[in-house]
Amino acid sequence: DEAPMELGGEQGRWEEERLKTASLSFGARKERELGLKQEQDRYQLVLEEEEMIDFVSTAITMKGTRSDKDEAESALSQAELKKRSMQEVRRSLPIFPYREDLLAAITEHQILVIEGETGSGKTTQIPQYLLEDGYTKGGMKIGCTQPRRVAAMSVAARVAEEMSVKLGNEVSPEVGYSIRFEDCTSERTVLKYMTDGMLLREFLTEPDLASYSVIIIDEAHERTLHTDILFGLIKDIARFRPDLKVLVASATLDTERFSCFFDDAPVFRIPGRRFPVDIFYTKAPEADYLGACVVSVLQIHVTQPPGDILVFLTGQEEIEACCEMLQERCRRLGSKIAELVVLPIYANLPSDMQAKIFSPTPPGARKVVVATNIAETSLTIDGIIYVIDPGFCKQKSYNARTGMESLIVTPCSRASANQRAGRAGRVAAGKCFRLYTAWAFKHEMEETTVPEIQRTNLGNVVLLLKSLGRSEETAAMLARRCPPCSLLCVCAGINDLIHFDFMDPPPHETLVLALEQLYALGALNHLGELTKLGRRMAELPVDPMLSKMILASEQYKCSEEVLTIAAMLSVNNSIFYRPKDKVVHADNARMNFVVPGGDHLVLLNVYTQWVESGYSTQWCYENFIQFRSMRRARDVRDQLEGLMERIEVEVVSCSGDNVPIRKAVTAGYFYHTARLSKGGYRTVKHQQTVFVHPNSSLFEEQPRWLIYHELVFTTKEFMRQVTAALLHVIEIDSGWLLEVAPHYYKSKELEDSSSKKMPRKQGKAREELG
Ligand code: CDP
Ligand code: MG
Repeated sequence: DEAPMELGGEQGRWEEERLKTASLSFGARKERELGLKQEQDRYQLVLEEEEMIDFVSTAITMKGTRSDKDEAESALSQAELKKRSMQEVRRSLPIFPYREDLLAAITEHQILVIEGETGSGKTTQIPQYLLEDGYTKGGMKIGCTQPRRVAAMSVAARVAEEMSVKLGNEVSPEVGYSIRFEDCTSERTVLKYMTDGMLLREFLTEPDLASYSVIIIDEAHERTLHTDILFGLIKDIARFRPDLKVLVASATLDTERFSCFFDDAPVFRIPGRRFPVDIFYTKAPEADYLGACVVSVLQIHVTQPPGDILVFLTGQEEIEACCEMLQERCRRLGSKIAELVVLPIYANLPSDMQAKIFSPTPPGARKVVVATNIAETSLTIDGIIYVIDPGFCKQKSYNARTGMESLIVTPCSRASANQRAGRAGRVAAGKCFRLYTAWAFKHEMEETTVPEIQRTNLGNVVLLLKSLGRSEETAAMLARRCPPCSLLCVCAGINDLIHFDFMDPPPHETLVLALEQLYALGALNHLGELTKLGRRMAELPVDPMLSKMILASEQYKCSEEVLTIAAMLSVNNSIFYRPKDKVVHADNARMNFVVPGGDHLVLLNVYTQWVESGYSTQWCYENFIQFRSMRRARDVRDQLEGLMERIEVEVVSCSGDNVPIRKAVTAGYFYHTARLSKGGYRTVKHQQTVFVHPNSSLFEEQPRWLIYHELVFTTKEFMRQVTAALLHVIEIDSGWLLEVAPHYYKSKELEDSSSKKMPRKQGKAREELG
């Protein structure tokens, strides 16, 4: 007895609108199935361009009959919205009636778990309530963590607006945010939104968070690595800081577990308001979900009543492709359809663009927001009635045996899918179109997402925890402040990582591997104690390998260049612009930047030329380089350069000699070494087969030894950003590996017997030259 339209998981609350419209001639059930079938057929249909036009013109006739009324209605609601002041909006949020009860509960309990539907006002309102209630007296701060950068920024901007202050501004600096490589706070900031990673770093300078009166760990259900570590640390300091209030805020997921972890802290529930959401599944799996998204958006646009659309995709590349396709279709359809405002949202989107998703839809138009899973619970966009969910997300996965970390597009969990669908029912009854089958929902999706701590490399966090525990000043300071037993809790807990208070412990082998890697990098000694190098590495807010690379550049006297490379690597793969209609031009432009040696040197070359152009926008445009990414690289570089001063690394240039640069890269990334072998490359340490990414400057060349920056798994395991290095131009001399990592590689592992016989391409000649 499988109803074709089905309710998601535990969400029995979602009603089925269609039941009410059942006609008399058939049995209600029959009619419902029929109606649904038609709707689904229409929805499933992947239209060719011409068909689309036909289809659209019929839809326009349909629309003609109701558009006048709609426009009047939506204009009315715009005016009405404007009329209502910000304060009224605040008072209309579901959390508002519970303001006093909530504040009373916070007074009474040191640790409180707060559960509420997404959009109920937890993130924007609670800090303001606390501020109004006097929690920032004497300049104490209220900190609120967010797993995502975009959320931290946009929520801070919203709160500043509600309080009529300028964000992080010197004149009225009450509200600010802090994310990696961007600090928008001042001495006078009292409401501080930040990423969970940034609060973690604050423990380095202020191990008891003395300047905070309240810490809100928001979006706790996301269970990011940093949030999970914060749980342990904050639970610990709360023991000897009875004045510190700890709030753990989460969407309606997992709250019992939080309560249990925090010694049975009470749970404060904010009853949500939710309208019914109809859920539609496809009858067969979608091979091309991106194409299916585009068609679905247009179909909703031309057949469905007003209301904005939210599409969930997995990342920037997909989102940009989808937006381009939508805009292209709309351009071709021209005035045949009503205006469709297409807006992307993802982590690297510049803030001025981010703000756009919150601005009201113009009358008569429809907004479509194409988002990553940031819009699942972190951000609430008002006016969404339709959700399109292809059912995927990008997830980190980690193989603790080989130490391989990769980002993989995987099916999202049922919990995620239900959160996504819920976005459609916030302002009115909505519809959620799932681009997968009901069967897949039931049988192929996991119930919940595995916490990040169990599927990621822990090097970074272990290094940070090590440096928290070992600092003698820290210990001395804590000893002054707190009773001896607490001191034991803090220091012992962190040093002995195996016994750290994890909500869900990471796999044992992952911890061991992290310690091993840190040892290989020279950050820990053979007793597992932090070395001087390790302490300096922890100061840099980047992965241990990257920070080792930066610190090694001191020794090789090329910090100027290596800083640039580090910054360029941090902005990821969005440097080169490759529009579909100019692929050949873009690829040629890219080829012009190729220099021998590998991608790291190519990145350096791009940046250097950009600097020579005077940081020109025009130059970027002409060379198919993304200006925004370059601007960000420049910011990151400035930040890193500032930190270099703090850890006393002199910034010097090797002026054109790239051997030192490649040595520094190798010193950081020797763990990522691969050797050419039959049918691809093999990693030296674990003999895993990997391939050079087609975008790499070394794709054709295939040098014998490679150092890669990261692995991405798409169709196969690709190495992205690779460098070949050898005294003789292209290869890594195995001697280097022994030089930079003597206690990691044994010379036997690097003996090159097998690959000598490998057939070679262009590399051959150079090898002989060398
Ligand atoms: O944290 P929670 O999901 O409970 O809700 P919130 O983020 O505090 O959002 C409360 C309200 O503020 C929602 O109605 C949002 O639409 C609105 N908001 C906004 O208009 N602009 C933002 N940048 C953030 C929130
Ligand atoms: Mg929130």
